[in-house]
Amino acid sequence: MTRIAYVNGRYVPHHEAAVHIEDRGYQFADGVYEVIAVRRGRLVDENGHLDRLKHSLSELRIAWPLSRRALKIILREVVRRNRLNGDGMVYLQVTRGVAPRSHAFPDHRESALVVTARRLRLLQGNEADAGVDVITIPDIRWKRCDIKSISLLPNILGKQQAEDSGASEAWMVDSGGQVTEGTLSNAWIVTEMGELVTRDASRAILNGITRQAVLRLATEAEIAFSERPFTVNEAKAAREAFITGTTVLVTPVVRIDGEPVGDGRTGEFTAKLLAFYARHMDNQGKGT
Ligand code: PDD
Repeated sequence: MTRIAYVNGRYVPHHEAAVHIEDRGYQFADGVYEVIAVRRGRLVDENGHLDRLKHSLSELRIAWPLSRRALKIILREVVRRNRLNGDGMVYLQVTRGVAPRSHAFPDHRESALVVTARRLRLLQGNEADAGVDVITIPDIRWKRCDIKSISLLPNILGKQQAEDSGASEAWMVDSGGQVTEGTLSNAWIVTEMGELVTRDASRAILNGITRQAVLRLATEAEIAFSERPFTVNEAKAAREAFITGTTVLVTPVVRIDGEPVGDGRTGEFTAKLLAFYARHMDNQGKGT
């Protein structure tokens, strides 16, 4: 089956999809993106993703490529044209458009939009059961990590470093020794005292849509939590640790820098929150 991409107003075969060489995303990483999970053909937490897209665009003063309503129609159309009726993800990217290379913004306000989709196994796989290893690395990113920028060099270098050392994810650590987040996920622990902790949403992290959903699900289940920074040492002494994100859902972390977390197996809170989140994914999209 031919995959279909949406590129600036047209639906085109994925292998033919292209943007101009002077697209500012290509030259300056002057753009933002979202990754939205698709569960049984439905977009998961679409409104949360579009709200965060709005934040990213407005912080960078990039114009909406089209109205939110039209964008929702395109997202559905890309899902439909790719016959994504099972599980997968939609990627959408908005850049400041095409203009002769010059640092300052172009005069026009024609941003560029690309949307792609692909299949992805969400709830199966060993990682959710067996858990993953993380390493810790210095956070060398800029000071606006709340913006979902396509400029991801520190993240890709960190993720590659993790994979090179046999781990799945790298937790980035700020100059005060506190964990900020993973390269493509948010970081969580259940402390020695049994407190569920994830870093507070500030400019130091991306406020994950999965993170926000898990916090809501914890509130509904009357599980107390604290949104605050935690140190690497606190994480290493924790009972449980896990990561959240669109592509990793809720994945247990069983080793940090090679040291087992708790008994080195998926923890009780982690399993419970994954089960809640799986149910949340299954309840998506009705009527939106
Ligand atoms: N990454 N932190 C970072 C740095 C991320 O890149 C992501 C998501 C998250 C989790 O956010 P959410 O729950 O909204 O997916 C946290 C996406 C999936 C990516 O870059 O592929």
